[in-house]
Amino acid sequence: MTRVQPPSVAISPKSTVLEKLEAAEAQVGIIGLGYVGLPLALTMREAGFPVIGFDVNAERVQKLNAGHSYVDDISDNELQAGIQSGKLKATTDFSLLAEMDVVIIAVPTPITRNRVPDISYIEKAAAAVAKHLKPGQLVVLESTTYPGTTEEVLLPVLKESGLTEGEDFFLAYSPERVDPGNEKFHTRNTPKIVGGLTPNCQKMAVALYQKAITTVVPVSSVRVAEMVKVFENTFRAVNIGLVNELALVCDKLQMNVWEVIDAAATKPFGMMKFTPGPGIGGHCIPVDPFYLTWKVKELGFQTRFIELAGEINTTMPHFVREKVLRALGESFKSINGSTILIIGVAYKPNVTDWRESPAQHVIDILSQDGALIQYHDPYVDTIEDRGGRVYYNSSLSDALLSEVDCVLILTNHSNIDFNQIAQHAKVVVDTRNVVREIDPKYHDKIRLL
Ligand SMILES: NC(=O)c1ccc[n+]([C@@H]2O[C@H](COP(=O)([O-])OP(=O)(O)OC[C@H]3O[C@@H](n4cnc5c(N)ncnc54)[C@H](O)[C@@H]3O)[C@@H](O)[C@H]2O)c1
Repeated sequence: MTRVQPPSVAISPKSTVLEKLEAAEAQVGIIGLGYVGLPLALTMREAGFPVIGFDVNAERVQKLNAGHSYVDDISDNELQAGIQSGKLKATTDFSLLAEMDVVIIAVPTPITRNRVPDISYIEKAAAAVAKHLKPGQLVVLESTTYPGTTEEVLLPVLKESGLTEGEDFFLAYSPERVDPGNEKFHTRNTPKIVGGLTPNCQKMAVALYQKAITTVVPVSSVRVAEMVKVFENTFRAVNIGLVNELALVCDKLQMNVWEVIDAAATKPFGMMKFTPGPGIGGHCIPVDPFYLTWKVKELGFQTRFIELAGEINTTMPHFVREKVLRALGESFKSINGSTILIIGVAYKPNVTDWRESPAQHVIDILSQDGALIQYHDPYVDTIEDRGGRVYYNSSLSDALLSEVDCVLILTNHSNIDFNQIAQHAKVVVDTRNVVREIDPKYHDKIRLL
């Protein structure tokens, strides 16, 4: 008698999270939909993963679901394509974390005025993840932080669930290196450092990122991964501090620092070009090195390069004040009562972000001296100084430029007409070497850093 085979049963969806990761079918949740979380959500979705973004900011969530991007590097079209695919949505409902195979945390890590890390956002996110932790879940921290955070802060909270790391759930750290405004490197093609808590954790995290990121760089531990990120940003902060000191030295010796730097940069080996400026800005470079400083202080160790670079970099807004004072002094004016038009308040060219921008410090210092501040920035509509005073973006006109006592260039956005500025202004303090773009016939009005 021939046995009749039962009809073949449809193969069920991949049952283990590892298999789901390898098939880009794992449900990915991203906590924190800012400059890091939103591009990451789109990158994961483009790799095929269904993605849910979690944020405590209901307005942001509503905007995202309506297809309106608030992050410079993400266009509405890109976002809408994601939403319309049905594989990307945002929510404030953290109970949905229970349905995630992967949870990535990308919340802010600021620093207090006394340079103490504020990891409260990580703690809150960790509590939300722990509440819904389920067997098989992979949790990855992407926020920049000091070495030890994943093990000392995140792990104990997750273990309260009774689940065991590396067996029941998986924990890793993978720093985000995104550089807002960078047209060449974005989330997908920037190599990704990955450190797992255990070999199983590492395997899971590498499987996730390999699907979405061109190059994955596994390292031996979460601590190494955490340290790589703070070191990268410390490297920048220290080198910017060094070149800012060079600017101070060149000023004393009455030399053009920009000429020195450009000439030095022709050396094809052993030299990397950094440029001076009115201070350092953004959410990362002025902040991250001090996470490391704080961490090693508990071991009685002092990070001297970081402290020194911080000291020099925070001096620069005062040096800018000095330059403005000298420029006004040429016409027998003082800062008190003079109108100063600041060009560019964002922390770097072609972005809308003015958090931790050097412009904030320069505005505070000049206002304290009695300057009447106006600003023009095509990317920033309004700003508020530390005293709570609100300023609105002035449109750039020949009349405005000729009225003000001094124009101070702080950010060299590429869509600003610096020739127009130099043509009509009385005097220009140029902290970004935009003089290169300006007709030589106006160079006598430009005062360089
Ligand atoms: N911005 C950058 O260029 C950059 C680059 C690399 C790394 N980083 C690091 O990435 C992390 C995130 O930075 P960002 O610039 O994306 O910050 P962001 O302020 O742009 O976005 C953070 C988002 O997290 C949300 N959030 C805060 N607490 C939350 C919580 N408990 N649950 C859910 N959502 C919460 C906020 O509402 C906000 O939308 C930081 O550690 C930062 O240092 C930033």
